[in-house]
Amino acid sequence: MDKDLEKLIKMRAMSRLGGGQDRIDKQHAKGRMTARERIQMLLDEGSFEEFDMFKTHRCTQFGMEGKEFMGDGVITGYGTINGRVVYVFSQDFTVFGGSLSETFAEKVCKIMDLAIKNGAPVIGMNDSGGARIQEGIESLAGYTDIFLRNVMGSGVIPQISAIFGPCAGGAVYSPALTDFSIMVKNNSYMFLTGPKVVKSVTHEDVTVEELGGATVHATKSGVIHYAAESGADAIEYIKKLLSYMPQNNMESPPVIECDDPPDRADEFLNQIIPENPNVSYDMIEVIERTVDHGDFLEVMKEFAPNLVIGFARYDGYPVGIVANQPEFLAGVLDIDSSVKGARFVRFCDCFNIPVVTFVDVPGFLPGTVQEYGGVIRNGAKMLYAFAEATVPKVTVITRKAYGGAYCVMSSKHLRGDINYAWPTAEIAVMGATGAVEVLYGREAQKSDDPQAYLKQKEQEYAEAVVNPFVAAKRGYIDDIIEPSRTRFRITRALQLLKNKRDTNPMKKHGNIPL
Ligand code: HXC
Repeated sequence: MDKDLEKLIKMRAMSRLGGGQDRIDKQHAKGRMTARERIQMLLDEGSFEEFDMFKTHRCTQFGMEGKEFMGDGVITGYGTINGRVVYVFSQDFTVFGGSLSETFAEKVCKIMDLAIKNGAPVIGMNDSGGARIQEGIESLAGYTDIFLRNVMGSGVIPQISAIFGPCAGGAVYSPALTDFSIMVKNNSYMFLTGPKVVKSVTHEDVTVEELGGATVHATKSGVIHYAAESGADAIEYIKKLLSYMPQNNMESPPVIECDDPPDRADEFLNQIIPENPNVSYDMIEVIERTVDHGDFLEVMKEFAPNLVIGFARYDGYPVGIVANQPEFLAGVLDIDSSVKGARFVRFCDCFNIPVVTFVDVPGFLPGTVQEYGGVIRNGAKMLYAFAEATVPKVTVITRKAYGGAYCVMSSKHLRGDINYAWPTAEIAVMGATGAVEVLYGREAQKSDDPQAYLKQKEQEYAEAVVNPFVAAKRGYIDDIIEPSRTRFRITRALQLLKNKRDTNPMKKHGNIPL
């Protein structure tokens, strides 16, 4: 018995060493943690239960016979984060560059299957040279087995990916299929093909960082949701994200004790809207002044900043927040912001997280760039997402809600449950200046003083149309509220909607304009 135990202890120790101390040192020299260190940092101390630590590859070609490392380049298992179960895989770059073999994929699939069956999130930590070159088709099959599980698990359990090193070729599609992806700045990259192939095909000179670094994907492509400063920062962000999510689509999101009074008024909000409608203000400040303790976890902060999305709590209840940001492009909706908002609303809807929407939107961005890029098709995504969402939906219009953008931003007409407006709200087909130009432009030319004539008409139009009372009279707005009481009104609305049940017509699935 002692001998057997001794062997087990030895084997475990060997497996834990991955590709060996030399390669671990190399990993550290690159400023990266090892796969095990990442798991240790992510999970509650002592909670990790590892699977398949003795598994090895079955490849017998290209010098692979007898060249085995236990675990075969990926560490898999489950553990807890703040006491809640999560399944984890962490690619081990010290073993064959973390490359994916047939057996590696089997390990990942095993924990994904368990996660889906048991209703717990999956966190994938990527650091890999891609498909194991010695194997070929088996590794391609393995990747596809993982993709299938990413899709089957979508909307059933939350899936989060972190990219801590290389992630190239088809391997990028697993993170792309998950709900949230995080990269580490200056130390990780994601692309379909690297700079060398790019150069030979398109003659374009580009560095790894310019092609697929964290900053590029956080600001330009919108592939990732957070560009972390370090591996530790990425792990912290994952933990924060998870704290707002239920374990699966059958559960409610976790409610925490809250000592921030729900009826806390904030007088500053009564003055935050500038006198001049063309002057901006910071919508994040509005959000932070209303949510519990001012805690707002922004998602995709640097991509399409004209729309703000993220998580917060009201009286301890998690919500997803969607808000126009007047500080960028006056808060217009465009292609990127619509895609960003739509996917976020759909995530919240999958996982029973209520959506609170703050509206200050002058409309959709006009012009050929947007039209050629398909702003019609892409803007429709946002509309679709809000319309199909059956979670509680609370909307606050702070200032502008013009044209199609009014309809899109969780309006009453898209099954908004509680729709509030501040007294400063301007709800109309378009702003008074544009409207009188169309209606009275020609007439103005005939008058003695066209400018004064238009000004007068503008004032009349604004008084008659551009205010929240017209919408409130028709019940499109449930109440016009005092801005300082916004936190209280939202919290109460969410309490009212706690047991909301709503459904969509029976269908296999809808056909969102992709
Ligand atoms: C087998 C691999 C490997 C791979 C790296 N290694 N990638 N082994 N298959 N895909 C091994 C190396 O041989 C080396 O082994 C060790 O891992 C560390 O790699 P280095 O090259 O020394 O590290 P580094 O200099 O940091 O470079 C990392 C790298 C480079 C940029 C990722 O290794 C690389 O370019 N690898 C190949 C990437 C690739 O083309 N993959 C296939 C993509 S196609 P030793 O024993 O020397 O330590 C693909 C299709 C997926 O993935 C399709 C899905 C549908």
